[in-house]
Amino acid sequence: MPVTAIVGVQWGDEGKGKIVDMLAQRMDIVARYQGGANAGHTVVVDGEKFVLHLIPSGILHRGVQCLIGAGVVLDPEAFLSEVEGLKGRGIPVEGALYVSGRAHLIMPYHKRLDRAAESSATGTKIGTTGRGIGPAYADKAARVGLRVADLFRPDYFRARVAQALESKNILFGHVYKEAASSVDEICAAYLGYAEQIRPYVADVGGMLRAAVAAGKRVLAEGAQGALLDIDHGTYPFVTSSAPCVGGALTGLGIPPKALTRVIGVLKAYSTRVGEGPFPTELDDGVGERLRAAGGEYGATTGRPRRCGWLDAVAGRYSVAVNGVDDLALTKLDVLDDFAEINVCVAYELDGKRLEDIPDDTEPLERVKPVYETLPGWKCSTAGVDKYLDLPSAARRYIDRVEELVRAKVSIVSTGESRAATIIRK
Ligand code: GDP
Ligand code: IMO
Ligand code: MG
Repeated sequence: MPVTAIVGVQWGDEGKGKIVDMLAQRMDIVARYQGGANAGHTVVVDGEKFVLHLIPSGILHRGVQCLIGAGVVLDPEAFLSEVEGLKGRGIPVEGALYVSGRAHLIMPYHKRLDRAAESSATGTKIGTTGRGIGPAYADKAARVGLRVADLFRPDYFRARVAQALESKNILFGHVYKEAASSVDEICAAYLGYAEQIRPYVADVGGMLRAAVAAGKRVLAEGAQGALLDIDHGTYPFVTSSAPCVGGALTGLGIPPKALTRVIGVLKAYSTRVGEGPFPTELDDGVGERLRAAGGEYGATTGRPRRCGWLDAVAGRYSVAVNGVDDLALTKLDVLDDFAEINVCVAYELDGKRLEDIPDDTEPLERVKPVYETLPGWKCSTAGVDKYLDLPSAARRYIDRVEELVRAKVSIVSTGESRAATIIRK
């Protein structure tokens, strides 16, 4: 049966891009279901690094069709520049890449509003990527958004932009004390993108349903991670879409029973970019060591990622929310030099031990991690591609992670390249 979903089970940047690329060689279709150019999915092929923001991470394989679903918010400028970047590096995209006409457009005023809200003295700072994600999803829900298909109805497009700007320009002028956005400028730019985007627009939902009916192999690629989910994450410190597995169904328009496998991507330690609770965060030299060894700087914004030990309480929650069948445990090699490795097995709150993540964000901000310390292996696992070639302490770590988060680790990643991967039978 056809559809496998790949979901991040932490706060994003788990290494989804590498796992999607690695699995894509056995797929007919890779389809992104939510988020936008806030994502940064890194794929390294033959030492060459590609960072994909909107285009599915299957694009580096010939013969794999890459689809962008209705649930994605598409910045046409970012999309076209990513297309050009790939073409410039000899990656064929025409005939391999399609975008749903139903996907909402990120408009210039969404990016302006995102940045203005983030720099406002009174608002809650989320630490967004500044890509206009929140305002675009807000407009979608308020039914004042513009969609990819609207690019091809110039009169309607202009009228909707004018309508949207009536209220946005009041915000710019009166709340943020900024210049108004111009209908003419936006329409000139966007109707210019229209012709460049036209060859890529298709009925992506219909293509996917036909593919599912024909028994084709589809990989649904999630962006961000479960703890950034608008409903199930650490609200309000979340993104504005549904990275959890339900988002794959609504974002692609496929029947639930088509989804037969969920792979959760779990990094061997934790990172988070932006604000919000992070129980295992390490503000000390250990956090610095993880950041340096893991190269933990944002693929989209270049911001240093906050680093800490693996949080198995949060991991267990994400596994349960997503019905994860298999885990891909990534960046195991980053732990190579640590003599001891901590894993958070429970939280402590007001003197009480909690086995599960609190259902609200405020207590999560106050919990203290309860650690179990496991011996490190102090030797290189970089590039190891057979399970039995891992040192016994590394295998013990994996066993313990499986027990704690309650899912089997079927894939282990030991480096950024495709070859540095262990597939367990
Ligand atoms: P994504 O957003 O989930 O796709 O993850 P990112 O691409 O933002 O961040 C993951 C980073 O780790 C990228 O630079 C990858 O090349 C790199 N990476 C992925 N898997 C491994 C691994 O097993 N070991 C090491 N050392 N790096 C990895
Ligand atoms: P990938 O797909 C990590 C974070 C931002 C911020 C919050 C909201 O590469 O894993 P947004 O711009 O979405 O409104 O920001 O979500 N964030 C990510 N963190 N990886 C990502 O994507 C992220 N996309 C958004 O840092 O905290
Ligand atoms: Mg990323």
